[in-house]
Amino acid sequence: QSVGVIGVPFSGGQPRDGVDQGPLKIIEFGLLNQLEELGWQVNFDGHRDYTTMQPAVDPPVGKLLNARYVSAVTESVASSVSSHLKQGSLALTLGGDHSIALGTVSGTMAIHPDAGLIWVDAHADINTPETTESGNIHGCPVSFLLGIAGQIKEFNWVKPCLSPERLVYIGLRDVDAGEKKILREHGIKAFSMHEVDKYGIAKVVEMAIEHVSPNRSRPIHLSFDVDALDPTVAPSTGTPVRGGLTFREGHYICEAVHETGCLVAMDLMEVNPSLEDDQAVFQTVTIGCSLVRCALGETLL
Ligand code: ARG
Ligand code: MN
Ligand code: MN
Ligand code: MN
Repeated sequence: QSVGVIGVPFSGGQPRDGVDQGPLKIIEFGLLNQLEELGWQVNFDGHRDYTTMQPAVDPPVGKLLNARYVSAVTESVASSVSSHLKQGSLALTLGGDHSIALGTVSGTMAIHPDAGLIWVDAHADINTPETTESGNIHGCPVSFLLGIAGQIKEFNWVKPCLSPERLVYIGLRDVDAGEKKILREHGIKAFSMHEVDKYGIAKVVEMAIEHVSPNRSRPIHLSFDVDALDPTVAPSTGTPVRGGLTFREGHYICEAVHETGCLVAMDLMEVNPSLEDDQAVFQTVTIGCSLVRCALGETLL
C-alpha cells in the first residue's frame, strides 16, 4: 500500500499568514517516517513552491479575493491528487487553507466519480461568490464542487463533480445564514456539534459513512479541517470556534473511516504554526499527525 503526500504551502484562500507553513511543520514533525512505520510506501512530492503561480495583479472578482491565485494553485493540486490516485496510491494533502480542497476533491472525483465526501469542520465552507461575506475562498470550495457557484471565468477549469447526496458534514457550529439556506435547499446531510452531543460520535460517524458510502460501496474522500477540533485541543488555526470535537472524537472519526477500507484521499487543512505559542503549535501539529496516522491505520491496540 502506498500513499502520495502532497504538501501545499498556500494561504491565499484567507487573509492570515502562516497557514502556508503547515505542511512544512507537519513533515518536520516526522509524519512521513510515522507513515512508513505503519507499513506505507510513502511518495512525497517534495515541498513545492506555489508562490510562482501568484499573478502580479489579482483584483477581486466580485467579492472573491485572490481568485486567480487560488484557481491556479488548486488546479495544480487537482492534477497532483489525480496522478497519485491513478497510480493506485492513497492521496494525502497537507494544507494550507481549506480552499485547497477545491483541488483535492476535484482530483479525487476525476478518478473516482462515485466517491463520497466527508467534510469535518466547524464551518460548512459552502458560501457562493454571492453569499460570501468575507470574500475568502476557503469559505467557498464546496459550492464550486457542487456547481452552485455560478459561472466565474477565473475558475473555468472546475467541473461540478459532487452531488449533494454524496456529501456529509461532521462538527459544524459556525455556519453563515446564507450557508444554512444552501444546506436546507439542497438537502445536504450535516451532523453539527448538536448531533454529536445528542447521538455520540460513534453513531454520528456510522450514519455519516452510511450516507456517503452505503454498505461501503463507494470510495471516500475525507477532508479534515483542524478547526473542527475544539480550540483547547487544536489552538493554532485561523478561524477557531469554541465547542468543538474532543481529542478522542476527532481520532474516532479517522479510525472509523479507516475501518471502512474505502478511504482513497485525505486532506488535513488549516494548521497555522504562526498562531498562538509554541506549546499550542506543538499540540496542533502533533494532533494533525496523529489524525492522519489513525486514518491510515494506526490503532490503539
Ligand atoms: N464562513 C466564513 C467565511 O466564509 C468562515 C469560513 C472558514 N473556513 C475555513 N476553512 N476555516 O468566510
Ligand atoms: Mn508524485
Ligand atoms: Mn473551518
Ligand atoms: Mn474548512
